[in-house]
Amino acid sequence: MSHTIHEDTASTKPAPKASTSPKKLFIKTYGCQMNVYDSERISEILAPIGYEAIDTPKDADLVILNTCHIREKAAEKVYSELGRIRKLKTAKNEAGGKMTVAVAGCVAQAEGEEILRRAPVVDLVLGPQTYHKLPEMIAKLSRSRGENLATEFDTKEKFDALPAARKPKGYAAFLTIQEGCDKFCTFCVVPYTRGAEFSRPVDQIIAEARSLAAAGVREITLIGQNVNAYHGAAPRSAPPGGPATWGLGQLIRHVAKIGGVERLRFTTSHPRDMDDDLIEALGQESKLMPYLHLPLQAGSDRILKAMNRGHTYEQYRDLIGRIRKARPDLALSSDFIVGFPGESELDFERTMAAVREIGYGSAFSFKYSVRPGTPGGAMHGQVDEAVKTERLARLQKLLVAQQEDFNKSLIGRTLPILVEGTGKGAGELFGRSPYLQGTHFTGPQSAIGQIVDVTITDAGRNSLSGVLSGGP
Ligand code: 5AD
Ligand code: SF4
Repeated sequence: MSHTIHEDTASTKPAPKASTSPKKLFIKTYGCQMNVYDSERISEILAPIGYEAIDTPKDADLVILNTCHIREKAAEKVYSELGRIRKLKTAKNEAGGKMTVAVAGCVAQAEGEEILRRAPVVDLVLGPQTYHKLPEMIAKLSRSRGENLATEFDTKEKFDALPAARKPKGYAAFLTIQEGCDKFCTFCVVPYTRGAEFSRPVDQIIAEARSLAAAGVREITLIGQNVNAYHGAAPRSAPPGGPATWGLGQLIRHVAKIGGVERLRFTTSHPRDMDDDLIEALGQESKLMPYLHLPLQAGSDRILKAMNRGHTYEQYRDLIGRIRKARPDLALSSDFIVGFPGESELDFERTMAAVREIGYGSAFSFKYSVRPGTPGGAMHGQVDEAVKTERLARLQKLLVAQQEDFNKSLIGRTLPILVEGTGKGAGELFGRSPYLQGTHFTGPQSAIGQIVDVTITDAGRNSLSGVLSGGP
């Protein structure tokens, strides 16, 4: 079983229901050529979430005033334009529609919150450095009003339709606990295709976990695109006065109580959502495997910022320090993207340095590629394909060496292996280590479905081999 469930590659579920006709966008541009250019970029950025430019504010779903501060009385002109737009917005409201009004550009930057106070018709104020966040802001605003994005689908409805009783095939199973994502990394399509973050209620998850355990499942991987953002409704049996929603740490402790479930994992996590309670659970809950997939994506703060990851490298490193303190036997895995727009050789070197400093047991790495509809596609400084290829090769060489070293470091150790089935050779069994490496060894068929101790005798890039501890 693959352990990265994230993003658009992972799901085998039906495609989301696409919906709705295009929404109308009107941009009024003031001032210089720079602003004309910015307005074009704003249209491009918004096209993928269903906005089509029109040339009048009447009937627009979204009105953006892209302002300029160079001329005298620029702000006054903007306020009087907002007065006219207020009338159109009121008329649209009365007709049962909705209009969103945003002010961008230099006046927005200079006046800031003052605009919202003086002109309540305004929903959003955008500084020039925040255009890449525009889809995120628009998406969040329309979600908060219960509207749908062009490609959004109803997650809640879908979860309700999922049967609680499952008939899993093997001894390790995935259990979806949340879907969607509100992080809006600028390279990623998930927030647009999978929609807003949605967490299943604890009771539903427990019911499904119990049915998995009853069907013989020993290991459950709790999955979600942004799994540690989990905040599902507390169980009905929870004592009154407690929190209305539970975080992932609390959920894990609860699932761990289910008899028959011997191992737990969760993926994929975002560094920003690793809270103290989850770190504590990693330290204390012995059923949680000592293996954490925590994508860093890039080592340069400039690139992390352009990716809208919301943390610096130093913050990630400190977080890893705290996690390792709580769980010293923990191994890490990560995702990396090379050649994100604007990535210089120096930026890339920071990714290499980060990998050397943190040290990973395994990792996935990708060349940046534009996903239609994401802000990354409209960014300056797209990196040459040949440069990406060359950087990816250097990164992967380092990651493979680390993976091999990590696997070799396990030689001589005795590890609990969940036996999933038979291997290729006669009498050979196949299972998974706590670190998810496939492990081959000889043993009786009766061990299938059990967790047995195997002493590791050899290690390759992708797998381990060993002998049954205390066995023949
Ligand atoms: N280009 C390259 N890699 C991407 N990923 C997501 N979007 C892109 C993209 N546009 C990678 C990220 C993520 C993983 C599942 O896929 O590293 O963590
Ligand atoms: Fe995509 Fe970022 Fe959300 Fe992961 S955290 S699903 S990369 S937007």
